[in-house]
Amino acid sequence: MVMNARFDSPKAIVTGGGCRAQAPELMASLQAHHALMVVDPFFASAEFVNEIRSNLRGKRIETDIFTDFQPDPTDQNVMAGADRFRTSGADSIIAIGGGSALDVAKMIGVAVMNPGPLSQFQGYHRIPVSGASLVAIPTTAGTGSEATKVAVITDTTRNVKMMILDAKLMPAVAIVDYELTMSMPKPLTAHVGVDALTHGIEAYVSRKANPLTDPVALSCVAKIHQNLRTAWSDPGNGEAREAMSLAALQGGLAFTNSSVCLVHGMSRPLGLVFKLPHGLSNSVLLPTVTRFSWPGAEARYAEVSRAMGISGAKASDESACEGLSDWLDRLNDDLKVPRLRDCCGGDKPKFDAILPKMANDALESGSPQNNPTVPAAGQIIELFEKAW
Ligand SMILES: [Fe+2]
Repeated sequence: MVMNARFDSPKAIVTGGGCRAQAPELMASLQAHHALMVVDPFFASAEFVNEIRSNLRGKRIETDIFTDFQPDPTDQNVMAGADRFRTSGADSIIAIGGGSALDVAKMIGVAVMNPGPLSQFQGYHRIPVSGASLVAIPTTAGTGSEATKVAVITDTTRNVKMMILDAKLMPAVAIVDYELTMSMPKPLTAHVGVDALTHGIEAYVSRKANPLTDPVALSCVAKIHQNLRTAWSDPGNGEAREAMSLAALQGGLAFTNSSVCLVHGMSRPLGLVFKLPHGLSNSVLLPTVTRFSWPGAEARYAEVSRAMGISGAKASDESACEGLSDWLDRLNDDLKVPRLRDCCGGDKPKFDAILPKMANDALESGSPQNNPTVPAAGQIIELFEKAW
């Protein structure tokens, strides 16, 4: 375990039902006078967006709305948003939506302050100048992007999902209002919920786990064990929704200060090739990759299993790990997460042909190297086959 640790987080995190009402005073505390609101197109005319906008006006903060981006945002989306930021005279950004809205907003802020193509920022700590102040308001309970220093943007020239990690991408403020997640449909609730679970597990078993991220990761996975099924089966259950929003926030804080591992490494190329949303591509891989990985860190996975309440304190590490793997299988079945073959249109020849490239891209992302068991390319191919 890493002992020299650093923990980055937003300057302020507010949580609770209705806490979006604090947006104007939090924006004012950032000396914001004119905000570009980067809003998921699905919510462009939502009542709560109008409400936030008029509250900002009440505090004499001007607003413009930018919704011109796609679910897996591209460099072109970011550049269009940066143009809009400049022409509108904005000095700050409010992001409202899922991971895509938050990620595109992070990079709009960076692009405004740092000229040139976004590919120059791919990788770790390559952003020279901090972007505009960002307030992040998630509408899903999954990515935790409101509290991470990561953005994933597709480079349309090379057709690569770029992972950009830099402390300068951490939002200044996170407003985590679970009321905005209540309308998530069941499949989205499942996929982003399992993504958040993946963050908690991977942050804890990662080779970069540390004493600051461990308690946050375990609290995340325990909440998900207790609440994800309820949030899925009873979408109007505010208590479960609130717990899932907090768990997603904790998952983001944990993995961004530790790391993600093999699930995310394999998920990015899979999502890019077969156009799968991030949560779905992680969900279909989590059980298979966990079975492969736990022998490399049996005690750590066993702690995850115990923290979740799957195994008792007296269970052996091995049986706790088996219990966790079985529970993850059942969770996907119960939440109707499809098999990988169903996500890829059943096109096995296409899948087989692209396997070596996906395995190579997974390894190149660097995430598999943080995994307890570091796989060779051939083993990644086998894992994709098993998840099929
Ligand atoms: Fe994720």
